[in-house]
Amino acid sequence: MFESTHAHITTWVVALILFVIVLVLQKGGNQKGAKITHMILRVFYLLIIATGALLFFKHQAYNPALYGIKFLGGIIVIAMLEMILVRTAKAKNTAILWIVFVVALAITIYLGMKLPI
Ligand code: HEM
Repeated sequence: MFESTHAHITTWVVALILFVIVLVLQKGGNQKGAKITHMILRVFYLLIIATGALLFFKHQAYNPALYGIKFLGGIIVIAMLEMILVRTAKAKNTAILWIVFVVALAITIYLGMKLPI
């Protein structure tokens, strides 16, 4: 968990899949299913942060600035996932959240790949 990124990748890939499932359930009017899946997704937020933080604290000395931006980017992605789902459930506008989400996700994945582990 400290030396390899496999656990970290697994957690965020599962989270993105759960995010899509919640959206599909919300659109399909299955509010109960969406709520349960959303709860599971929230556990995965914690797992993403835990696995990311383990990597971060072990390796950030190598390049604190880039690791810092990676950390922040990951947190922003998670915040957007949560806000998009909550606002979609309330039928509110999510256009800006989607833009921030896509940009933050691109930066986070790019930095994740670029950083050395
Ligand atoms: C949904 C949000 C996130 C996504 C999509 C994401 C994506 C990635 C990707 C693609 C990698 C590279 C894996 C590899 O090349 O093997 C990575 C590594 C990493 N992530 Fe994340 N991440 C997210 C959240 C976080 C968070 C919240 C943190 C900090 C708490 C974090 C810290 C790290 C660290 C330290 C690495 C290792 C970088 C390295 O040296 O290669 N990530 N992440």
